[in-house]
Amino acid sequence: MTDGEHARGMLLLGGSGSRLYPVTLAVNKHLLPVHDKPLAYYSLAVLMLAGVRRILLITRPQDRDAFQMLLGDGSHLGLQLEYAVQSQPRGIADAFRIGAEFIDRQPVALALGDNLFWGESLRSHLANAAARREGASVFGAKVVDAAGLGVVEIDADGRAVSIDEKPERPRSSIAVPGLYFYDSQVTEFAQQLQPSARGELEITDVNRMYLERDQLHVELLNDDVVWCDAGTPSTLQAAADLVRSIDERDGVKIGCVEEIAFRQEWITATQLDSLARRYENQYGEYLRAIAAA
Ligand code: G1P
Repeated sequence: MTDGEHARGMLLLGGSGSRLYPVTLAVNKHLLPVHDKPLAYYSLAVLMLAGVRRILLITRPQDRDAFQMLLGDGSHLGLQLEYAVQSQPRGIADAFRIGAEFIDRQPVALALGDNLFWGESLRSHLANAAARREGASVFGAKVVDAAGLGVVEIDADGRAVSIDEKPERPRSSIAVPGLYFYDSQVTEFAQQLQPSARGELEITDVNRMYLERDQLHVELLNDDVVWCDAGTPSTLQAAADLVRSIDERDGVKIGCVEEIAFRQEWITATQLDSLARRYENQYGEYLRAIAAA
């Protein structure tokens, strides 16, 4: 990143959402509501919390207009949003090929649009990952069953030993959430990738290239951090329950991109207040109260 430029990130909003059929036959998964906002807001919020302001949104061709309607050019949030389409579901790491020009051989973060994070120490985890100048950073989340996920194994010093995509027999109970930070080598690594047995360019293969060079950092999430991949009916419902309960119990909205833009000082109180006036509901009232405080 050269001086005066914002950190870059990509947000993946593609995929057929087949685990949610028939819900996602006509509506893109990332536009589905998670309590009071679309699913895509939560991963966008995490990129914003990491200080990423220049973001490429990667969508299916048929969904591009809907995301454009939802988020526009991002200037109302102090962001610079750009759009690109993924015409075929070629896998997560296809993002580095689609976004090659956008990345421009600079460091880049990548977030999957169906992942949600919440917790006190999230900010410091994000700051650690975003500040690392060399290599790649992934996160590690302890889970009960890691079988359907990326799985990382670490040694006693927290260094990555192995990383596997959806292994039948996981070598650890540490899952790799859909949020990754890469240095400028990533474009080249992605060019070397071959499709996996399931025909996809796997993000785990990119991470393994870093691991083989001893450049894969694992930021193990503290217990207070909740992570979920809201890609199935149950996890989508669980995510909504979490967001609703924190909202009702603590009066705090998870994934509120307008609030984050204001707290990051990317927009003023006046700008936040005018955003709030677009919503004549509890969401708007929440934003107005923050702008007035
Ligand atoms: C993807 C990644 C996997 C990761 C997961 C997190 O899997 O391939 O490594 O753990 O996201 O959400 P998917 O959910 O796309 O099958």
